[in-house]
Amino acid sequence: MQWPLWDRAVRVIHWYLPLAIAFMWWSGEEGLYDWHSWVGYSLLVAVGTRVCWGIIGSQSARFAAFLASPSAVVAYLRGRPYQGEGHNPLGGWATVILLLVIFLQGLSGLFVTDDVMFEGPLMFWGGEWSGVFAEWHELNWLVLQVLIVLHLVALTYHQLYRKEPLIGAMWWGKTKSRFSLSKPKNTGLALVIALIIAGLLFLLITLVPQAPSYY
Ligand code: HEM
Ligand code: HEM
Repeated sequence: MQWPLWDRAVRVIHWYLPLAIAFMWWSGEEGLYDWHSWVGYSLLVAVGTRVCWGIIGSQSARFAAFLASPSAVVAYLRGRPYQGEGHNPLGGWATVILLLVIFLQGLSGLFVTDDVMFEGPLMFWGGEWSGVFAEWHELNWLVLQVLIVLHLVALTYHQLYRKEPLIGAMWWGKTKSRFSLSKPKNTGLALVIALIIAGLLFLLITLVPQAPSYY
């Protein structure tokens, strides 16, 4: 049986990333920090859910299925063809790095202020470190932009030069030549995970001590 290579949870989370990150860019530049923070929280939930899904999700979504050894990555870079069904050895590590950098962007955002109207919910907790987090938020954003460009360049190379239907598989779940042999897990489970993470994040940002108000 040919099952989707990328289950619904992986695809919804994936396509949410470019949409939300484009919004974060625009809202960050425009100074719309209320919207910026809410969509930022949703990105933290999306990345958190994807990480949990990488441990208990469908077979091809699991880190164990696509995180190759350094020697396999080197061999792949030297031209050894990849025969597996999901991410190739380099793509597997690129996935983890992209998720990590998005997470660090969201995490640092929780501690920063725009020095005018907006304070991240954990700013008071960060204390004197708020300035460091702000620099991190700015620097990490540059790293994320570079990674996104590399991601798009790699995809274009595979899709157009090597004629591998990667984009179709990420959009439809599978294509004629890219599919999984194991049945995906129920999307409902991913939804429950997302709700639990959202609940925990909500508790964190509402229960931490806030700066005393002088008004
Ligand atoms: C902000 C922009 C983007 C980010 C942060 C991003 C991030 C990611 C991540 C984390 C993965 C791993 C998926 C997983 O296993 O969960 C991935 C895979 C993928 N992305 Fe993106 N992505 C972005 C934009 C795009 C765009 C615009 C396209 C298509 C034109 C695209 C096409 C793909 C494809 C086809 C894969 C699967 C690669 C494979 O088969 O190994 N991505 N992306
Ligand atoms: C992955 C999620 C995030 C992305 C991609 C992102 C992206 C950005 C970008 C592009 C800027 C403008 C940077 C600049 O012009 O120097 C910015 C600034 C800012 N972001 Fe985020 N952000 C994220 C999460 C968050 C979160 C969760 C919060 C708060 C809850 C937040 C709060 C802020 C604040 C306060 C600024 C202004 C900082 C300053 O004026 O120095 N961000 N962010």
